[in-house]
Amino acid sequence: MNEKISENTYTLHNQVEIPCVGFGTWQVPDGETAANAVMHAIEAGYTHIDTAVVYHNEIGVGAGIRMSGAAREKLFVTSKLWNDVRGYDETLKEFGNSLKRLNMDYLDLFLIHWPRPIAFRDNYEEVNRETWRAFEHLLNEGYVRAIGVSNFLPKHLKALLKSAEVVPMIDQIEFHPGWMQPETVSFCEEHGILVEAWSPLGSGKLLSDPALVTLAEKYNRSTAQICLRWCLQKGKLPLPKSTTPSRIEENLRLFDFQISKEDSDLIDGLACVGRTGSDPDNAKF
Ligand code: A2P
Repeated sequence: MNEKISENTYTLHNQVEIPCVGFGTWQVPDGETAANAVMHAIEAGYTHIDTAVVYHNEIGVGAGIRMSGAAREKLFVTSKLWNDVRGYDETLKEFGNSLKRLNMDYLDLFLIHWPRPIAFRDNYEEVNRETWRAFEHLLNEGYVRAIGVSNFLPKHLKALLKSAEVVPMIDQIEFHPGWMQPETVSFCEEHGILVEAWSPLGSGKLLSDPALVTLAEKYNRSTAQICLRWCLQKGKLPLPKSTTPSRIEENLRLFDFQISKEDSDLIDGLACVGRTGSDPDNAKF
């Protein structure tokens, strides 16, 4: 999966190319803040922007994309279906709402945001099956170039795969030093599903980790760059988020250095720091 880092893309199992670092927009307020952050990210060189219905910033993200002047087809744009919507018709309708908010006529990637929403907990397998049929329709009709899931553990993926005609191209999960989710990652690797990493900096918690700080000094990089480069070398796709222009730029300067195998192994071996987000199987939303 990581054979194309040098060209800054991964290839999904349907041959669509995806830029191997994405700009995350969780907690970026809608309106001018989102628009300016996205515009700055694109000017800094990001071509992959990740949003979601529940971030409530699709309008600002879309505005920032247009303000940047970048050609739509040069960008890779993701959104995610929130937990209050499931089912075939409802999903198609909500996808249309996302397109309207973003002011676009297609998405590059659409994800089911969480596997077991509280509203559908009793019959989540069945509602995900119907929801996924709608995703497959959107893919087949060309409204979206790739489809996937987020926060799915192996048990949720196995349930989906029982009826799926298209294997998800992506599972976007929490992944960073100290929280590597090996079972989910192995399942994804076995099924050709690319892992995207949300909170690749552990929501900022990792930036003061002494071992990572020492490595950052050794490579003359920032601790954030060490986390992100490590993630890339593991064949995963980091989605760092920042509203600070200098950090937005720093988080993309990852392609002119390499972490040695020995140091990468050292990062693999860091003590478990746990998840910063919710347990996907029992989230309270
Ligand atoms: P800010 O938005 O104020 O720049 P994660 O992507 O793991 O969820 O982490 C996001 C957090 O890490 C945000 O608080 C963000 O702050 C901070 N952050 C992002 N990039 C960097 C960086 N290069 N150096 C320091 N902090 C960063």
